[in-house]
Amino acid sequence: MRERGEPVHFADAPFAMARLDGGGIETAYFDYALSPLRDEDSSIAAVLNITPETTGRVVIEQRLAKAQAALAESEAKVRRRTVDLEAALNAKTLLLHEVDHRVKNNLTMIGALLRLQSRQIDDPVITAKLDAMMERIDALATVHRRLYQSDDVTKFDIAGFAESMASGVIGASGRGDIKLVVDIEPIEVQSDYAASLGLILNEMLTNVIKHGLNDGRSGTIKLSARGNGADYVLTVEDDGHGIDLDKKSDGLGRTLISRLSKQAGAKVTWDRLEPGTRVTLTMKSVH
Ligand SMILES: Nc1ncnc2c1ncn2[C@@H]1O[C@H](COP(=O)(O)OP(=O)(O)O)[C@@H](O)[C@H]1O
Ligand SMILES: [Mg+2]
Repeated sequence: MRERGEPVHFADAPFAMARLDGGGIETAYFDYALSPLRDEDSSIAAVLNITPETTGRVVIEQRLAKAQAALAESEAKVRRRTVDLEAALNAKTLLLHEVDHRVKNNLTMIGALLRLQSRQIDDPVITAKLDAMMERIDALATVHRRLYQSDDVTKFDIAGFAESMASGVIGASGRGDIKLVVDIEPIEVQSDYAASLGLILNEMLTNVIKHGLNDGRSGTIKLSARGNGADYVLTVEDDGHGIDLDKKSDGLGRTLISRLSKQAGAKVTWDRLEPGTRVTLTMKSVH
């Protein structure tokens, strides 16, 4: 400064010093503002040195920088952990899909075995029972096919399944005189219940073809699925002959429906309509 004659400023210059009020050696920070004081002949007579201490601010800034670095590091850790967890979830999903795929293939194989066996039997009562068993196994195979095609392995859309099963059952019956009317919103249930609910729907739908819209009676199957508070309600309605609610049946269908609905935490009720039958399945959704 003496050479150039201009004021000089140093910001936050560190000094090792001991304070009078005790404590050890610490680093303190000062701003230096040096200004020349000139004589009449403008030569520099003295230097004015203003050195306010900035330690308080500098220490706070240093702490802030440290905290920011620590935050950035933990954010990076969280990001790495998220990537790891996503990879683990993907691996688990893939594995479960693989299992569902195998289960579906094995069920298809069991169905084919039953079909072969059924062809060798002449008794129509037994072949009808075997055919019903094949339909149940096909229904289970379809449940597992939908499970391995779904992105979320924990949930199962029973309403979407019901729609495809209804058109499948009508298609398989070869009946051109049955109309399907669908009014559904997705109903997501725990995938643990998918097999039970799939079997229940199979019984409901095959009963319509077998008992409601049989003997040359044409008609409509109405499928509806709606959220109703905490419960979800799925109904299969036909305008066929109508169920006789007092009749004791020796069939397997309604027994299966009652038992499986208990397992899946669902409730099933039958109503006689004028004309037809309505079966209502009430279940808890997954949130
Ligand atoms: N949609 C329906 N329309 C008319 N009757 C029905 C319907 N669903 C069930 N039923 C009656 O309920 C009975 C019991 O059905 P189910 O237990 O499935 O036995 P199965 O189908 O083997 O006869 C049937 O025999 C039939 O009389
Ligand atoms: Mg039945």
